Amino acid sequence: NTAGSETAKRAAGEAAAAEVADGDRVGLGTGSTAAHAIRTLGERVADGLAIEGVATSYQSRALAKEVGVPLLPLSDVARVDVAIDGADQVATDANALVKGGGAAHAREKVVASAADRFLVVADDSKLSASLDYPVPVEVLPDALARVERAVVDAGGEPTLRDAERKDGPVVTDNGNLVLDCEFGGVDDPAALARDLSGVAGVVEHGLFVGLADAVYVGDADGDVTTRT
Ligand code: A5P
Repeated sequence: NTAGSETAKRAAGEAAAAEVADGDRVGLGTGSTAAHAIRTLGERVADGLAIEGVATSYQSRALAKEVGVPLLPLSDVARVDVAIDGADQVATDANALVKGGGAAHAREKVVASAADRFLVVADDSKLSASLDYPVPVEVLPDALARVERAVVDAGGEPTLRDAERKDGPVVTDNGNLVLDCEFGGVDDPAALARDLSGVAGVVEHGLFVGLADAVYVGDADGDVTTRT
């Protein structure tokens, strides 16, 4: 990460965290940009803001605890007032994102879909005219071969995500595997999202279509533009 992108991520995270109001139930996203929002919320809680957080991953739960944001278990939560989360790629001309670079997209999508307002936070390098970031697909381990075949049939090239500091594959917080699926540019995110969701053994994929209510885009100067 360059210093510029850290500045951009912090600016976006802080701007979205400023939208949270007293009494809100707040979805806490995963990744380095959402982490800035969680830290800002921790500071606001220390100043007296009363909120309840709902974490989207082991990582966001640990950070929320560290900075003093009270937590509710996701399994008990049917709706949240606002959710704040990062993205791996944001389409400039459609309401579509790719998420799951941190393998957290299944819980992230549950929380985003439960949110009255879903605020995406990103540095400006995440904006793209076309979605060409490999689409993460969380897969039930026993369905791996079947899902790999279905991804190929849909025009994609699946790669099992390997763990960096462990021999073997990444295992998600939910005990599943992740296929990073290269589609060489997604022309119709909604159609691909439907296709992937229709494959038995796919737990969740990282295409978030029509979910974002606003995207907070930070730049290296620390300025934030809001796209709705
Ligand atoms: C987690 O699985 C992803 O969906 C993250 O939200 C995404 O990787 C964003 O992370 P950064 O803010 O660190 O780029």
